[in-house]
Amino acid sequence: MKTFKTTVISSVMMASALLATAAEGVQVDHLGVNNTLVRTDGAPRYLLLPVQEGNEDARINVLVDGKVAETIYVRLAKSKVDYMVPFDLSPYNGHKVILDVVSAQNRATVREAKNDVCWSRIELSDTFDTANREKYRPAFHHTPSYGWMNDPNGMFYKDGEWHLYYQWNPFGSKWQNMTWGHSSSKDLVNWTHHPAAIKPNGLGTVFSGSCAVDVDGTAGLGKDAVIALYTSAGTSQMQSLAWSKDNGRTFELYPGNPVITLESEARDPNMFFNRETGEWNLVLAHSLEHEMLFFTSPDMKEWTLRSSFGKGEGAQDGVWECPDLFRLPVAGTDEEKWVLICNINPGGLFGGSGIQYFTGSFDGRTFTADTNQEGKIDTKWLDFGKDNYALVSWSDAPDGRRTAIGWMSNWQYAAEVPTMQYRSANTLPREIGLFRATDGEVYASSVPSPELESLRGKLVRNERRMSVGKKVRDIALPTAGDGVCEILMTIDARKAKSVTLRLEGETGENVTMTYDPVASTFSFDRRESGIVDFSDDFPAVTVAPTFEKDGRIDLRLFIDRSSIEVFGNGGRFSMTNLVFPASPYKTLSVSADGNARLSDVKIYELKN
Ligand code: FRU
Repeated sequence: MKTFKTTVISSVMMASALLATAAEGVQVDHLGVNNTLVRTDGAPRYLLLPVQEGNEDARINVLVDGKVAETIYVRLAKSKVDYMVPFDLSPYNGHKVILDVVSAQNRATVREAKNDVCWSRIELSDTFDTANREKYRPAFHHTPSYGWMNDPNGMFYKDGEWHLYYQWNPFGSKWQNMTWGHSSSKDLVNWTHHPAAIKPNGLGTVFSGSCAVDVDGTAGLGKDAVIALYTSAGTSQMQSLAWSKDNGRTFELYPGNPVITLESEARDPNMFFNRETGEWNLVLAHSLEHEMLFFTSPDMKEWTLRSSFGKGEGAQDGVWECPDLFRLPVAGTDEEKWVLICNINPGGLFGGSGIQYFTGSFDGRTFTADTNQEGKIDTKWLDFGKDNYALVSWSDAPDGRRTAIGWMSNWQYAAEVPTMQYRSANTLPREIGLFRATDGEVYASSVPSPELESLRGKLVRNERRMSVGKKVRDIALPTAGDGVCEILMTIDARKAKSVTLRLEGETGENVTMTYDPVASTFSFDRRESGIVDFSDDFPAVTVAPTFEKDGRIDLRLFIDRSSIEVFGNGGRFSMTNLVFPASPYKTLSVSADGNARLSDVKIYELKN
């Protein structure tokens, strides 16, 4: 009896001791080993939640006046706080808010649960600080202001603005709580962040999809409404519609959702209005079947399945995701072709994620892929690096442009890269084109979007001609702004077996790029590029075909704080790779096996 009393008194005392340490305006009640209530009446704007990345997610039902308003998953801190994430209380102002937290930590006792550092560190605040704390945050690539990001999606252009949505976790820097984050830009260079556009709802979290401007009001939601189709990812995947009357700032969910259901996994709807057939077209990734499904609709609500493409074709080693379908002219001809983008993961060219595509024809119902001279369908790749995935294009881009952007990472290690406050950037925006190569086949090209020239600052090197041979020639790289720069050059390697361009850092770190004019290849070795040990899949050599036969290529390199993008031979090949050097590369050293000539070597500092 005595023992019992003592126990009661000490746990009451402990509870009040803990309450005293919880922030003002926040009340914490432990209900058992894995269940805790956090209460507040939501006066300041944010409840800041402490995160420890190595922990399991806790499931938090947010109860507002006793009803579940949201469910979020947060890696609440146990022994140390890596960073805070903001839960926005403003929609619930003046109401009682309870976070019903269920942790997955399997504690033995309530005392253990009470010891978690998160309870005393939860705080109320009017602000959330997004000032950058990361040395690897890019200077000129789009990133979320904080939190995890994967696929860019739902991009559309309207009234002079480029809208970019992205797969976002607003509650941590690892994948979870998929929400459509939103940024917009007038110039594809400077991005403004907006509040989340579409949040998880009763049908599930919000996976990738697309937007289109409904110019004729076919959906009955008004002329010029922005219509979004996305995947609702609940227990299963289904397709849902949302619409916006304020140019994509806020969306309303269509009450008739879901608009497409199937009996197997399918996602990432990509739609466009086909002026020739007068119908909406939609491509949906039938992910585990390794194929794309083609639907039509008069109004974006009723969809009819017309055909499929892909079974047994192209790379088949991973799931098919994030399709895109568009028509482009073949450079220098009157010919036009359709391009079907099929992102695939794993099974990409250098392991993990990759962008494969097919060229062919499309009659509004069926896609027919081109065959090569042997009558086979080739597997083609849009990027020859490891870090360009889920690339899709903007709908309604001006002047017939096919402007696209990818997620600059790879599912193999995206969650392990050495950043914390945010994780992942997007690639530079690029213009997709088509060209016929010397093998007679049509391929897609990627050139940096013209707006990127506005990034150029001081021209720090301008060399008309340089001869290079065995003796290494060193070119100093800019030091301003952490060395972010653009390098241009033309290489004439007709009298060389190879030309080597090496970016060198202080402590022997380097990226070695080699142009082989005999094999017509360009390779990129990042095995000693800096921090590489966070994943066995990160150290790698990637190789691109240069699509030329005369020993000459031009190159355009964009070097940011943690990425290098190479555009070669007028964009006929491109290569996107992440790098994490301890300090910015200082020197570009150039050498050749044989004699090579470099011309128009230009190095620009780039603005932040
Ligand atoms: C591709 C992908 C998509 C899905 C999204 C979820 O990276 O797997 O298929 O919609 O990510 O975040």
